[in-house]
Amino acid sequence: MTDIEELLLSRIRDVADYPEPGVMFKDITPLLADPAAFTALTGALADVAARTGATKVVGLEARGFILGAPVALRAGLGFIPVRKAGKLPGATLRQAYDLEYGTAEIEVHAEDLTDGDRVLVVDDVLATGGTAEASLELIRRAGAGVAGVAVLMELAFLNGRVRLEPALAGAPLEALLTV
Ligand code: PRP
Ligand code: MG
Repeated sequence: MTDIEELLLSRIRDVADYPEPGVMFKDITPLLADPAAFTALTGALADVAARTGATKVVGLEARGFILGAPVALRAGLGFIPVRKAGKLPGATLRQAYDLEYGTAEIEVHAEDLTDGDRVLVVDDVLATGGTAEASLELIRRAGAGVAGVAVLMELAFLNGRVRLEPALAGAPLEALLTV
């Protein structure tokens, strides 16, 4: 394990049985509160943006906003919020996706992504991959290309990587940590 991986892992708190029994919640607030760790994290994700030739960074509400905005600034790119449905005032594209129980919807301002763009999606955790998959659908429906998906942490046992493969269509999924 690299020094950065060790630092990041040491600042993620496992919370048992949250938000419901049987779930181990990955709490990133200790990492956000440590400027050295937060700087290392945003630097590593900004490197992914540079490597993949991204022209814009999409952050996924809510925790993807906290990471995606500083990553976009460090990479010198625009930040585009993908929001939970009903929060954006302009003309939007909307995409539904499955949750463990029921469905959810996310939206993006249609004018924020164009056919010249290559978009890097940033989020904290890849679990089942449903949220990231829906964001890739939105990006492609807006006519933009996908540079990749970059997350702090991939929960490998939930197989999100496999679910994302078709939507990635060869673009990379980069996880700084795999647990
Ligand atoms: C969490 C997490 C990821 C998503 C991963 O977000 O931040 O965005 O779930 O799950 P998936 O891969 O199974 O889709 P959530 O919507 O729970 O909460 P948040 O608003 O705090 O980010
Ligand atoms: Mg989230």
